[in-house]
Amino acid sequence: MSLLTDLQWRYATKKMNGATVPPEKLAYILEAARLAPSSSGLQQYKIIVISDKALLEKVKGLAYNQSQITDCSHLLVFAAWDGYSDARISSVFDYMMDERSLPHNTMDGYKKVIMELYERSGPEWQAHHAAKQSYIPFAMAIAAAAEQKVDATPIEGFLSDKLDELLKLPSSGYRSTVLLPLGYREEAGDWLVKMKKVRTPMAAFVTEMTLADAADTAELPMAQNLDVYIQD
Ligand SMILES: Cc1cc2nc3c(=O)[nH]c(=O)nc-3n(C[C@H](O)[C@H](O)[C@H](O)COP(=O)(O)O)c2cc1C
Repeated sequence: MSLLTDLQWRYATKKMNGATVPPEKLAYILEAARLAPSSSGLQQYKIIVISDKALLEKVKGLAYNQSQITDCSHLLVFAAWDGYSDARISSVFDYMMDERSLPHNTMDGYKKVIMELYERSGPEWQAHHAAKQSYIPFAMAIAAAAEQKVDATPIEGFLSDKLDELLKLPSSGYRSTVLLPLGYREEAGDWLVKMKKVRTPMAAFVTEMTLADAADTAELPMAQNLDVYIQD
């Protein structure tokens, strides 16, 4: 099966049957998410896995009672950093340098550049930037689930502030961003399962551009070259 066949097979499952996803399939999906790229490699997000039915009942109440929350096997809650700090970034970079047997100060110049950018951009931008990153492992998990023939429903329809409170996320500096129940479709009760998958036609989705199509603005020189900040 090719990735495209798997992506055709998957859909935002509206009704799940309560069957359990085997641990090896769950591990595969989580590993695909873990391998996602992230801005500066910070992995400024994490995944909380919930299979406790009593907790899922509470989560459902914060997610417009969407039935997949309790009929799934496992609920993945994607959560992102609520902001950037020198300590947070340093701890990731220190770990990275340890894993690569490099001195901790190897990326100090680069770290300074991104920290200045983050500080200049403000706390709201920071939380938004981190939240955007969490959608990359989210998409990887969706694709990996499809490959494993596990159904998944992307869910943004929930009260994130209330869920954060329930899962005690603020005390650890995280905010929930998006949910992904994993399970198996209950075809009989699912209005979407037989519907055609509809996407924007390729011709409208993809636009090729040349310089002739671009605005006639002056060249915008970059003041900084990130390469020079990585010290050998
Ligand atoms: C970020 C995001 C949030 C979504 N939120 C919900 C949701 O709360 N409930 C739901 O039933 N579907 C939700 N969807 C599913 C979309 O409606 C669905 O993916 C889209 O219509 C395309 O259909 P398909 O996934 O079946 O191909 C969401 C999808 C994404 C990517």
